[in-house]
Amino acid sequence: MNKFRILGPKKLKGEIRISGSKNSSLAIIFISLLTEKPIILKNVPYIQDIDVAVKILTKLGVKINRKKFMNIDSSGICDKFFSCKLIKYIRASIWLLPAIIIRWRSGKLILPGGCSIGDRPVDLHIWGLRKLGAKIKFNYDHLKIDSVNKLIGNTIHFSKISVGATITVMSVATLAYGTTIIKNAARDPEIIDIANFLNKLGAKIINAGKNEIVIIGVKYLKSCIYNIMPDRIETGTFLIAAAVSGGDILCHNTCVNNLKIVLKKLKFTGAKITFGQDWIRLNMIGKCPRSVNINTAPYPNFPTDMQSQFTLLNSVSKGSSVITENIFENRFMHVSEFIKMGARLNIKDNKIICCGVKKLIGSKVNATDLRSSISLVLAGCIADGITVVKNIHHIYRGYESIKNKLNSLGAIIECI
Ligand code: UD1
Repeated sequence: MNKFRILGPKKLKGEIRISGSKNSSLAIIFISLLTEKPIILKNVPYIQDIDVAVKILTKLGVKINRKKFMNIDSSGICDKFFSCKLIKYIRASIWLLPAIIIRWRSGKLILPGGCSIGDRPVDLHIWGLRKLGAKIKFNYDHLKIDSVNKLIGNTIHFSKISVGATITVMSVATLAYGTTIIKNAARDPEIIDIANFLNKLGAKIINAGKNEIVIIGVKYLKSCIYNIMPDRIETGTFLIAAAVSGGDILCHNTCVNNLKIVLKKLKFTGAKITFGQDWIRLNMIGKCPRSVNINTAPYPNFPTDMQSQFTLLNSVSKGSSVITENIFENRFMHVSEFIKMGARLNIKDNKIICCGVKKLIGSKVNATDLRSSISLVLAGCIADGITVVKNIHHIYRGYESIKNKLNSLGAIIECI
């Protein structure tokens, strides 16, 4: 069952409900451990990365149950040596650090594994935490946190914008003594969502979403009920599904403001885009998209998580274009697979030179990471004939019910 067999070409049309944000949920679930009070989360997506996070926390003695909402009770957490092997599977487990530092003051955390899209270091997380007074050592494959007496707010000026490190430092600073200022902070909507969550717990975070975040330390955090924001990358992906297939898709439960640059680029391709407060619709019926240059960079610029989907779009668009990847060094693994399907793409350093073709041809292709896998599945939906995407397990990490959602829009996808 680790392959998708897709029959194309199909025009993808219809309406879809966007799930809760993967990246926001993952961070929020881990930093929920900052308080022993119960927490209720709404709109957490049913995806594999969340299942792994739940398994890790359950092993640590956190009680989590999921019916309509996710209930988290970490009052009985028992193990301060965070050596559970699952930690290696998801990058997000680095956000166990705030709880280790705040609640246990000492402990050991296996380093979250690397990832096929690049090296994924955690030096900025550690640097920022040390500036708050945390004592952390790198020890071969794990981090060792020694008794931290008093965490004291500080000015932390990151040399590079990092979503993960901003979340780590912002979370720990909520319970440090005094005021912390994070300069050159990541400005992503997920940072705002996580700050809103922490503020609902009683934190005092000001200016999340701006370049400079101010955090006034508080003594304790309480419980809360929190509704996770919609997944902007899932939204963008379904809009691409309409754009590449000459279709028409309406995404519900989403947020236009979080997708400005993506919508601007899609508009440039010739798509008709309409939207309301919580919906976006993209119509490409009867049109052939025009190719568009892409330059990935930290928010509010173009998201690296939408790069492979736009590579597909440019592969089947009129004209030639250049995609430049500036965030991760190894994020072009989908390119060789698109070429097998007839795409005319050339990699030069951190750029893909794309010459649009009229048709892709069904082929056997290999998924290597989350975003490449969804792009290959969409390629299969628009290619002539049968496409088999191997190693489809990557897709389940971040896309809820993806086969059913795409099939409800007219795709023909089966698991084999
Ligand atoms: C998060 C998202 C990921 C998205 C990425 C960039 C989650 C779970 N993942 O990843 O989907 O693609 O933001 O928008 O939220 N870096 C360092 N040292 C560090 C940390 C990062 O050098 O300590 C580098 C990275 O290698 C990368 C760049 O900084 O080149 C940006 O990474 P970062 O923003 O931290 O990405 P993540 O938080 O890992």
